[in-house]
Amino acid sequence: MFGLKLVSILSAILGLSSLATSQKTVRINALGDSITGSPGCWRAILWQKLQAAGVKNTDFVGTLSGQGCGFSYDGENDGHGGFLATGIVRDNQLPGWLSQSKPDIVMLELGTNDVWSNIAPATIIAAFDTLVNQMRAQKSTMRVLVAQITPMNPSSCSDCGQRVIAFNAAIRAWAPNKSTAASPITVVDCWTGINTTSDTIDRVHPNSSGNTKLANCWYEPLKAAIALAGCP
Ligand SMILES: *[C@@H]1O[C@H](CO)[C@@H](O)[C@H](O)[C@H]1NC(C)=O
Ligand SMILES: *[C@@H]1O[C@H](CO)[C@@H](O)[C@H](O)[C@H]1NC(C)=O
Ligand SMILES: *[C@@H]1O[C@H](CO)[C@@H](O)[C@H](O)[C@H]1NC(C)=O
Repeated sequence: MFGLKLVSILSAILGLSSLATSQKTVRINALGDSITGSPGCWRAILWQKLQAAGVKNTDFVGTLSGQGCGFSYDGENDGHGGFLATGIVRDNQLPGWLSQSKPDIVMLELGTNDVWSNIAPATIIAAFDTLVNQMRAQKSTMRVLVAQITPMNPSSCSDCGQRVIAFNAAIRAWAPNKSTAASPITVVDCWTGINTTSDTIDRVHPNSSGNTKLANCWYEPLKAAIALAGCP
């Protein structure tokens, strides 16, 4: 009796402790353009922050390998320099990338090159809609984090600052409607607080302080998504 009880208490304790440590490995795909991929050192800082917080059940995946950021990190991604959301849809590229990388979470930051090319927000959002459908075709419970894109003010485009603001508003309007319980979409604010003068190298791409700010904007939403996706 006593022995059995002790065993059941022990196994309850062991069960609890194994629950606490039995989070599954979560596969994470950062999908974007050069801000994500070339070199995209905000992802290195983000990985480092997660590690420091004990969030180690991650596998960053993608068809591109990580570039050098001064320390080793898990850097696979799909940050394709120069790519447009509308171009990725036109060329039907995402299904092939996803079938190779098989993510549980997609961190989507696209639209910068579309906006720069003066493509209308509604057209870019229609591409996002297709991309999310393709993600759900790959995995019906895909968790999607979608960035409000970073501000830009390139010398070749005096309108771009305002165009980004309009596009981000369209993202905020679209995402909640497209979100489902099975495959939630979370909007991540990577616009607020980033200054195109002091946080970028060329008024578009982040410098080291911009990279820190990008790591910070993704950190809490990604950590929350990992905790949910990692549940046994
Ligand atoms: C919301 O989503 C549905 C399909 O899921 C679509 O038919 C509808 O047009 C969307 N509404 C808005 C305001 O985007
Ligand atoms: C951006 O940074 C520049 C240079 O540091 C500063 O002059 C400007 O006020 C900042 N803009 C905003 C919106 O904070
Ligand atoms: C870029 O980042 C560094 C370091 O965080 C900062 O001191 C600098 O002012 C930033 N801006 C430019 C244009 O390099």
